Amino acid sequence: MIKVTELTKKYARNVAVDHISFEVQKGEIIGFLGPNGAGKTTTMRMLTCFLPPSAGSATVAGFDVLEQPLEVKKRIGYLPETPPLYPEMDTTEYLTFVGKLKGLSGSELRGRIDYVCERCAITDVRHKLLGRLSKGYRQRVGLAQAIIHNPDVLILDEPTAGLDPKQINETRDLIKGLAGDHTIILSTHILPEVEQTCQKVMIINRGKLVATDSVQNLQSRARGAELVLVEVAGRNGNLDSATVQRRLEQIAGVSRVIFKETHQNRNMFEVESQKGFLRGDLARAVVEAGWDLNELRPTAMSLEEIFLQLTGEEVTDKAAAKGGQ
Ligand SMILES: Nc1ncnc2c1ncn2[C@@H]1O[C@H](COP(=O)(O)OP(=O)(O)OP(=O)(O)O)[C@@H](O)[C@H]1O
Ligand SMILES: [Mg+2]
Repeated sequence: MIKVTELTKKYARNVAVDHISFEVQKGEIIGFLGPNGAGKTTTMRMLTCFLPPSAGSATVAGFDVLEQPLEVKKRIGYLPETPPLYPEMDTTEYLTFVGKLKGLSGSELRGRIDYVCERCAITDVRHKLLGRLSKGYRQRVGLAQAIIHNPDVLILDEPTAGLDPKQINETRDLIKGLAGDHTIILSTHILPEVEQTCQKVMIINRGKLVATDSVQNLQSRARGAELVLVEVAGRNGNLDSATVQRRLEQIAGVSRVIFKETHQNRNMFEVESQKGFLRGDLARAVVEAGWDLNELRPTAMSLEEIFLQLTGEEVTDKAAAKGGQ
């Protein structure tokens, strides 16, 4: 449904999107992840014909974004970072206006407006001025305008940004509900959102795609690392967790040991190691030190850990970086 080949956007000397290639199949819902300034919005604007690529190509439903923009726009619904709402219009007027722009009229247009209002739960604000709507409702009206012409493809740029937790859940459910009929790309900073909503994830960093895969595959192949959860207890009396941590760190092949918690003389650690590292070595080290090994269990890396590993950014630093830009 979407095919992107070596797509590139340069601003002066700055390469915002750097030769990215990917495909999205019909009905798929893909999460587009990346730190601030990674190139998500720029990519989405090229896919929706708002920005011409500097090089490479992209097609939507077989139509080229540069050569057949009208055909592409007919098949695409776009929710930009800031929904393009006119504050002096009410919801119905606005949806009528957008629907007409998309070629709808008469009873078909009225039918679609009823449908999207119902679907996006904005029926109760149909006659309210957009300028007076809360952020959550504005976002939902933004989503309603994106789907008014029943497009095959939806491009949603941070659809849940700035919403409260209840609104986030509602919007997330709404997007999930749309997934069957539409092919969806959504960008987000909320990693659990991708895990819950999307089948696949693309991670972009400094304009380059660093991973495209199913959430599951990404977790298992992340940097070839393995993660095990280890619980160690002292046989008599209290066991100093720092001592255990130092011992675990000395085991060959172990790259990182993270202390999780102490509970009644039991110490939990997360041990990251290279793939193929023998869990037996870890078990032996614990037992030889005279401690009990209560538990040794492989765990999957969270998407957040993978994201940080692939982009080399700290979540907290991202907010600071944005403020400083
Ligand atoms: N109109 C522009 N002129 C010059 N540079 C731009 C322009 N728009 C974006 N950029 C640059 O392109 C890069 C990618 O920006 P983009 O908005 O695509 O990032 P993003 O991944 O959407 O980030 P965010 O998470 O903050 O929304 C950034 O370095 C940005 O400064
Ligand atoms: Mg953006």
